Amino acid sequence: MSDARPKIWVSQPLFDDIVARLDEYFDVAATPDISDHAPEAIAAALRDADGALVTLNDRIGAAEIAGATRLRAIANVGVGYNNLDVAALHARGIVVANTPDVLTETTADFGFALMLAAARRITEAEHWLRAGHWQGWGFHKMLGAEVHGSTLGILGMGRIGQGIARRAAGFGMRVLYHNRSRLPEAVERECRARYVDRDALLAQSDHLVLVLPYVPANHHLIDAAALAAMKPTATLTNIARGGLVDEDALADALQSGRLAAAGLDVFEGEPVVNPRLLACRNVVLTPHIASGSLPTRRAMVALAVDNLVAALGYGPNAGKPPSAIAPK
Ligand code: GLV
Repeated sequence: MSDARPKIWVSQPLFDDIVARLDEYFDVAATPDISDHAPEAIAAALRDADGALVTLNDRIGAAEIAGATRLRAIANVGVGYNNLDVAALHARGIVVANTPDVLTETTADFGFALMLAAARRITEAEHWLRAGHWQGWGFHKMLGAEVHGSTLGILGMGRIGQGIARRAAGFGMRVLYHNRSRLPEAVERECRARYVDRDALLAQSDHLVLVLPYVPANHHLIDAAALAAMKPTATLTNIARGGLVDEDALADALQSGRLAAAGLDVFEGEPVVNPRLLACRNVVLTPHIASGSLPTRRAMVALAVDNLVAALGYGPNAGKPPSAIAPK
């Protein structure tokens, strides 16, 4: 009977004590080290698997599942799932789930922090101080942009965007947003946010934060033209996905003073960062950690485990994974 237990592939080291909950139902093959799995390695790992717990490092599409005849569920540890070809997985009847909600507030905290750090030149100032340049208090040293009372623009007003808007109220900011669809009035009122078109958002924001999902239609949404439409005193913060921004155009804007500063937690070729951005002093760079508080990362893994157990027909939510992505 024991060889009838479904097999699970866990693609990255997560939290062992939480992942161990899978042992009750499944035979688990875990990956001990952080891995940049080649497509062939993913295909090989999925070949005998009934389910998989994966992260946004793992790109899975039609080719990777071609030989995975038993595969019934993929639980992504992350709210974004552009690493997965969801249409191809759904076409094969594979349940796909992500981890929304549990990371909303933590990610909004970080988005706000990154925007503040870019506006007030916090990491630039720290690097300068650590390099031993500080000779005495300088009246004109590291003058930044105002945050309180300024205009915050949010592109992508989902749960995280709304969390950032709620935080902005404490800073007396005027909040504008643009989204695929306008939010209900009650939500706008709660977030004190006003819907504007994309052009107005670019033109009026003192601080623009990107929180929208990456889909091919959004590729390089923030390109040279979009950057040219922004105020030269503005900042750009990206906590969504690197592919939303044309990084060379951003480096041009930051180097030429066409844009005051940027805060980037995500990069198109991550973990490789565009060397032109690395050379800019007026950009705060962090390694995709917006949801990275310990309790939140644990909650994400716990939700992904719940999704996988339920999707494969076990546990208290058998057949009803808490956050499965609905087929289109
Ligand atoms: C992180 O970027 C996530 O999508 O959860």
